[in-house]
Amino acid sequence: MIKVNFDSKVDVKRTAEILKEIAKDEMGGWFNLPRKIDMGEFVRIKEAAKKIQEESEYLVCIGIGGSYLGHRAIIEALRPKSETKIIYAGNSLSKRELDYALKKVGDHDFSINVISKSGTTLEPSIAFDEFKKKLIEKYGEEEAFSRIYATTDKKKGALHDEAVAAGYTRFVVPDNIGGRYSVLTAVGLLPMAVAGVNIDKLLEGAAGAVESTIEPASKYAWMRYELGLKGYDTEVFASFEPSTMYFNEWLKQLFGESEGKGKQGIFPAAVIYSTDLHSLGQFMQEGRRNLFETIIDFPTDETNAKVVQAVKSAHIAGGIPVLDVSVSSFDEKGFGELIYFFETACAISAKLFGVNPFDQPGVEAYKSELKRLMGLV
Ligand code: PA5
Repeated sequence: MIKVNFDSKVDVKRTAEILKEIAKDEMGGWFNLPRKIDMGEFVRIKEAAKKIQEESEYLVCIGIGGSYLGHRAIIEALRPKSETKIIYAGNSLSKRELDYALKKVGDHDFSINVISKSGTTLEPSIAFDEFKKKLIEKYGEEEAFSRIYATTDKKKGALHDEAVAAGYTRFVVPDNIGGRYSVLTAVGLLPMAVAGVNIDKLLEGAAGAVESTIEPASKYAWMRYELGLKGYDTEVFASFEPSTMYFNEWLKQLFGESEGKGKQGIFPAAVIYSTDLHSLGQFMQEGRRNLFETIIDFPTDETNAKVVQAVKSAHIAGGIPVLDVSVSSFDEKGFGELIYFFETACAISAKLFGVNPFDQPGVEAYKSELKRLMGLV
């Protein structure tokens, strides 16, 4: 269970209204998702994961933003065991990076999971073309197509149409769930299952948090709002576990894309301690006082726990509001709870700031401009 170790002024009536709005929102499908898992799809995910594990040394996960950060966060944090390794591609437009991934796969047996809700995002499209070419060269078209798993819209988009025409195994990004809220759908579940994450436990953790998280998530959201109004315009997420670096990245996307619009929002930054105490520690202790710190407090060993304590005391003394979010366990259950906690808190918080937590007009603006510059539209 997630606990927050601070108090804030929660307007219970407004929170209840917001929660109703979220549940009814056409993009609010993630809110009840942990209790409404499509069991048919879940079984197909597990079967596909088994097949991939049996026939591939690598699964190339192609996607960007919400189509890759969530599963990468959990896989890297938990370091599960699987004979099949995950390689990520299509999360930048760097040719150097793409060549590196292609080279890493080399002559090994591999499959592809291409993930794009819109099915038209440039970064994954380019990487997919390259890896598909490699797959066809290695296995011939028929077998290659049986090694491609496309996670995309149910009915539309270029990737959907190609997947139907070529007969790729398809998984759905539900219409009512946006990219950054999609980690508990096939978007995240298939790569996590292949990597050896216990997805039953992850979903159990999230389902168990559906009710218990409302109170701590509301407290946290109202505290952020209060601090935001007081001029604290930057939130620094702090973890003391280096393997959670990608969880930090997931948080940055979740809050940045959900809140940063209409000239509103708290800028999300993130650190890993004690590592970053030796780089950003000086700024945290004595720099400009426009930031607050949210410590994600995982159960840890005695020495690391002392560092947590020391950081809290020093930073409070240095004038930083420190919010403590404590997680019950460093495993699938704990991360399931944490995902649901932050998704809920973020949606409430965005609503308090008066913005729509579920759209991303700024990202769309970048996507269209890039396509224009590349002569693709
Ligand atoms: O959260 C979001 O909606 C975005 O970050 C998307 O996930 C990202 O832009 C990738 O989009 P798509 O899945 O359509 O390729």
